[in-house]
Amino acid sequence: MSNYKRTLITSALPYANGPVHIGHLAGVYVPADIYARYLRLKGEEVAFIGGSDEHGVPITLKAKNEGTTPQAVVDKYHQMIKESFAKFGISFDVYSRTSAKVHHETASEFFRKLYDKGEFIEQTSEQFYDTEAHQFLADRYITGTCPKCGFEKAYGDQCESCGTSLNATDLINPKSMLSGNVPVMKETKHWYLPLDKYEPWLREWILEGHKEWKPNVYGQCKSWIDGGLNPRAVTRDLEWGVPVPVDGADGKVLYVWFDAPIGYISATKEWSPEWEKFWKDPETKMVHFIGKDNIVFHCIIFPAMLKAEGSYILPDNVPANEFLNLEGDKISTSRNWAVWLHEYLVDFPGKEDVLKYALTANAPETKDNDFTWKDFQARNNNELVAILGNFVNRALVLTGKYYNGIVPDAGELNDYDRDTLLSIASLKAEVERSLDNYRFREALKLAMDMARLGNKYLADMEPWKVVKTDLERVKTIMNTCLQIAANLTIVFEPFLPFTMEKLRSFLNMER
Ligand code: 2FM
Ligand code: ZN
Repeated sequence: MSNYKRTLITSALPYANGPVHIGHLAGVYVPADIYARYLRLKGEEVAFIGGSDEHGVPITLKAKNEGTTPQAVVDKYHQMIKESFAKFGISFDVYSRTSAKVHHETASEFFRKLYDKGEFIEQTSEQFYDTEAHQFLADRYITGTCPKCGFEKAYGDQCESCGTSLNATDLINPKSMLSGNVPVMKETKHWYLPLDKYEPWLREWILEGHKEWKPNVYGQCKSWIDGGLNPRAVTRDLEWGVPVPVDGADGKVLYVWFDAPIGYISATKEWSPEWEKFWKDPETKMVHFIGKDNIVFHCIIFPAMLKAEGSYILPDNVPANEFLNLEGDKISTSRNWAVWLHEYLVDFPGKEDVLKYALTANAPETKDNDFTWKDFQARNNNELVAILGNFVNRALVLTGKYYNGIVPDAGELNDYDRDTLLSIASLKAEVERSLDNYRFREALKLAMDMARLGNKYLADMEPWKVVKTDLERVKTIMNTCLQIAANLTIVFEPFLPFTMEKLRSFLNMER
């Protein structure tokens, strides 16, 4: 696959303003984890980075509504999210947080370097201000009617109905989220990253250089670039965040989308003194796992920041997923329409792999998909139990019965044995090819095909009949079955790590 020496896998930093749900798992963390486990299994050098995104207006608003502090909000949810991921076996090398000291320092230095290089435009403009709350109204502090689609509850930075990214001043009938009042205009100074300057380079790098990116990702990049890029403010008038590290910037912090992706760098620093080889060596392959709402930030804005800084590598791929719905309806935190991971862990203890399996089998890779409990049950009963479990169980039980659990030596193979083993090898190669291309659904289906093949082999060979007449032949059959089972522990390891650990111990296999 690659001329690369190592892989840096980042997974979107979830906002620490609520627990994580199956949409997060399906869209980002399960595919990222599968990819990390796959590469480690091949003996490759990997850094798998995660952490909580602890700045931004949703967090301060939540703190205000709950009568507490932003720090208390993020402390609570960071712990909760971290624990849910650990219990689901998401194998981060580090799970950090953006309120950490190392992150404040890293983000601050990053901004300062761009500032010193003259990469920002400094500009004073009029912005919405709440005279009652004495506060500028950035991003989600303001709502109003979307000028594009007419949705009445669009936010100052984005309309969640049509997905358009907005400037607060674009909103029709703007209203403060703090007091409900109509805001006034007031002058304020901010720093802007001139994205327009990077347009020719982005066109070349993505539209010419990364035609292999997924169509949904490539398409979004193309429409952003073709639509024309504008300078983007990277600072805000807020108290919660990384303070802007220049004189005359009191009461200003970095925009959350400026500091959050730098969080990947800070987390890598926190994890290893060798962090620089993961971020600055062109022989490192960087892959960002994200949901589709994060595409512009990871494909356009963060790369422009990295390019402006000058010493960092750029992502090789950004295999963003579409969204997962739940029982036909959009997952929504505010309407409490979600399967929350911390609740699932209580309701289905020991069944973490089952959920990960169902989510991957039905992953929203190319279009939005729907999670239903009916499908979850069917995937468990008809696939995990009836195909994989059934084969492994029969291979182990029959070996126990005929050979006291000792692996019998194979005698001479017949054509059917040989063909079966060849098919196993080629399925394994196909699983790898799919994983190399971020096609996790397909890879999982191919892995299950291997178990199907095992069942077919057993059904065709009928060792329980042959045992009555030809004991030697049964040794070969069972040896072949156990080879298939051993291969299953490998192809399923990235998808079902807990289950495969058990299976390896039944088979007395080392990792
Ligand atoms: O959309 C989100 O949930 C953001 N918190 C993702 C941030 S990804 C990265 F840049 F940190
Ligand atoms: Zn809209």
